[in-house]
Amino acid sequence: MSNIVVFGSQWGDEGKGKIVDMLAQDAAAIVRFQGGNNAGHTLVVGGEKCILHLIPSGILHPGKICLIGNGVVLDPEVFLREIDTLALKGVDVSPARLMVSKKTHVIMSYHRAIDSAREGALSQGAKIGTTGRGIGPCYEDKMHRCGIRAADLADPELLRSKIENALVEKNVLLTRLYGCEAMDPEQVFRELLPFAERLRPYLADVSTVIQQATQAGGTVLFEGAQGTHLDIDHGTYPFVTSSTTVSGNAASGSGCSPRMLERIIAIVKAYTTRVGGGPFPTELDDETGCYLQEKGGEFGATTGRKRRCGWLDLVVLRESVRLNGPTELAVTKLDVLSGLAELKICVAYEYRGQRVEYPPQEQNGMAFATPLYETMPGWSEDITGVTSWAGLPENARRYLARLAELSGVRIGMVSVGPDRCQTFTE
Ligand code: GDP
Ligand code: IMO
Ligand code: MG
Repeated sequence: MSNIVVFGSQWGDEGKGKIVDMLAQDAAAIVRFQGGNNAGHTLVVGGEKCILHLIPSGILHPGKICLIGNGVVLDPEVFLREIDTLALKGVDVSPARLMVSKKTHVIMSYHRAIDSAREGALSQGAKIGTTGRGIGPCYEDKMHRCGIRAADLADPELLRSKIENALVEKNVLLTRLYGCEAMDPEQVFRELLPFAERLRPYLADVSTVIQQATQAGGTVLFEGAQGTHLDIDHGTYPFVTSSTTVSGNAASGSGCSPRMLERIIAIVKAYTTRVGGGPFPTELDDETGCYLQEKGGEFGATTGRKRRCGWLDLVVLRESVRLNGPTELAVTKLDVLSGLAELKICVAYEYRGQRVEYPPQEQNGMAFATPLYETMPGWSEDITGVTSWAGLPENARRYLARLAELSGVRIGMVSVGPDRCQTFTE
């Protein structure tokens, strides 16, 4: 197997976790390279569901090395809780196979406090609808060069002084601007200490571990979180997350050369969803939208919020192809479309009186884009048991063929149900 990058091509929740779990079978190591516990990746194996927020989706395969790269932001409490939940199920979560880069930035309680205070202060319509996990404020500190990194957890004196320094500024923000209580540095430090202690054995030089795994002949699977249109640069800014979600960041966010990135797999949900605020041209506020939401079980895996649903948007996908260079597509949730008489694919937008093939780049431009649709006949058959391309109803094959044609990328995998086994390759 080659090294593989898996990334979300839409607004997240495309089914990355499921595909990573499936591909992990043949990898030596699986690495998360960006985002944090804003992610919710669902794996279903033999009917049993497991939602992961931080730990790579290869963890259910015994013996595979699971790595958290430097590009991730890590909440120690959430990480340790996830470890405990997996351990109760009998999963090996020992530091021999699960490691966190010493360079990974740590989400602190004051990051969570600022995240929710800021969201609370925004007016309706301006709210990003963040997951409230402190993701943005943690990445801000990283860029501001005052962040706490995982390695600092092993150095209590450094940790204490970094917390004290950080809170000088943050307490002004919290109290004067947002009317919250000031946070006591000593209390923040003391509350973190037990987690820091437990986390210490997991600290590693992830870049070197990746190098060793490949030198031993193994391959690496890079697991993206969120989606291309939530990318801090390329997404629907400001309604985005705070990390670089595109495939190129797999190298920088894990500590390896871009030459290592070989197969690049775009995960494409057969329709589109979005959770949180921001423009969504193909959103359906009608019966079909409700049908997709209910049949697709479209509730956020992290916050439980209802996901907004709409038709497949090829303008969005085309941009993802340009930005990520996928070698193939993995189309998920095709089964959810069964039972719809007609399906629409957005092939372009009308924007300011013109037909455009790519998302407008002006702030919030997408909010003024009108989708131009192509309509295709649907199918009524239940396809959750289909195991090959040939086994699909003809109209489902046509829908996929059109998707591949319009995106210019071949479809390598099709998913027709949440379970690991409900997937087939072309
Ligand atoms: P991720 O964040 O990209 O890993 O995706 P999520 O796990 O947040 O959301 C995808 C949801 O769809 C989860 O509930 C999966 O179990 C489910 N799912 C994944 N693939 C399929 C599929 O092909 N069909 C159906 N019906 N559900 C799927
Ligand atoms: P996975 O990996 C879907 C969205 C939030 C919000 C915006 C910013 O499961 O696909 P943040 O907390 O990151 O500052 O929130 O990004 N968001 C996601 N939406 N799937 C995700 O992850 C998401 N992670 C963040 O809803 O709109
Ligand atoms: Mg998700």
